[in-house]
Amino acid sequence: MPDMVDLASLAERRSYKWRAFPSDVLPAFVAEMDFLLPSCVREALHQAVDTGDCGYASASQLAEAFASFASERHRWEVDPARVFLLPDVMTGVDEVLGVLTGPGDGVIVNTPIYPPFLRHVANLGRRLVEVPLRHEAARWELDLEATAAAFAGGARAYLLCNPHNPTGRVLSRSELERIAELAQRFGAVVVSDEIHAPLTLAGSVHTPYVAVGQLAADHGVTLTSTSKAFNLAGLKCAVMVAGSEPMRRRLASLPEATAFRAGLLGVIASVAAWRDGGPWLDGLLEHLATVRRDMADLLARHLPQVGYDPPEAGYLAWLDCRRLGLGDDPSAAFLERGRVALGHGPDFGPPGAGFARVTMGTSREILAEIVERMASACQHA
Ligand SMILES: Cc1ncc(COP(=O)(O)O)c(C=O)c1O
Repeated sequence: MPDMVDLASLAERRSYKWRAFPSDVLPAFVAEMDFLLPSCVREALHQAVDTGDCGYASASQLAEAFASFASERHRWEVDPARVFLLPDVMTGVDEVLGVLTGPGDGVIVNTPIYPPFLRHVANLGRRLVEVPLRHEAARWELDLEATAAAFAGGARAYLLCNPHNPTGRVLSRSELERIAELAQRFGAVVVSDEIHAPLTLAGSVHTPYVAVGQLAADHGVTLTSTSKAFNLAGLKCAVMVAGSEPMRRRLASLPEATAFRAGLLGVIASVAAWRDGGPWLDGLLEHLATVRRDMADLLARHLPQVGYDPPEAGYLAWLDCRRLGLGDDPSAAFLERGRVALGHGPDFGPPGAGFARVTMGTSREILAEIVERMASACQHA
């Protein structure tokens, strides 16, 4: 189990999560966790600061550390020569789509989706092609027929989110194989954001997209980092992995300046996490499996009208609040009347109306407090 931090100490944190709202609001809106870092990461960061090792970032050691982590955790053999340094995953989305697609090209996203996907695709001057997930038999499912139609309609890229934020769905190998066939048939590229993959929980298996076969490797790029699984988002370090040698050559045209925007402390922390953070991560996964169950119990007790499919990966709960009668953005009422800040459903695209997202990467006590505050907002309605 990761070391917990009490609420008084969390309130002293200077991260976005703890500064965005007044102090009487309990924040659970952003994907940041409330634990101490693994000791291997803390030691590596202390060592860097104590020895003045704070210059520009160099990717040395990072590619090898990622390759060994990918092999151990996901049985994915990565050639370190195909690993590029980035400051963060969303910079990777911008750069990769910038190189691999042209103005006006269609980019498929599966709504509801991590809101920056929608903004970045639009800001890049690409055309958003929404293929909503379907909710069937208590599970969020890809709509492969609609995906085929989107490619047939001219989409040139698929910005995949696997595991999916906000639903926590882990896509199966056969679903990914089907996407690979379609993308290849229509000459499209697939950019796979796998930032939540190390957080895949017991009962599910993460399959890296570019590892499903030669087709996917040929047209695929993976983006990932330690920022979600090890809570290092503020240190600015991520990687992009080209699935194949031809794709590596296409990505080699990215500006050198992109890698220099990464932070050296992020590289140092990520190397330590990927090399030595496995036991800590295992403890975290056990805790997340507990809070995932707690969420179901808490909702059953306090808010039985809310729909919740426990995530297969990660620490995000995508809550269907439509039966509470709080309108399109229930997070507004939870904030105003319950003093708890959740993710706004409509930000995740049109299918997010009536939903809210809760960050469960916290202690069991704080999770209980989050749900109790949500319930109190409904009593005050
Ligand atoms: C799916 C997904 N992609 C990207 C990010 C952001 O990553 P970064 O800070 O490395 O840009 C997040 C953060 O929550 C995320 O959930």
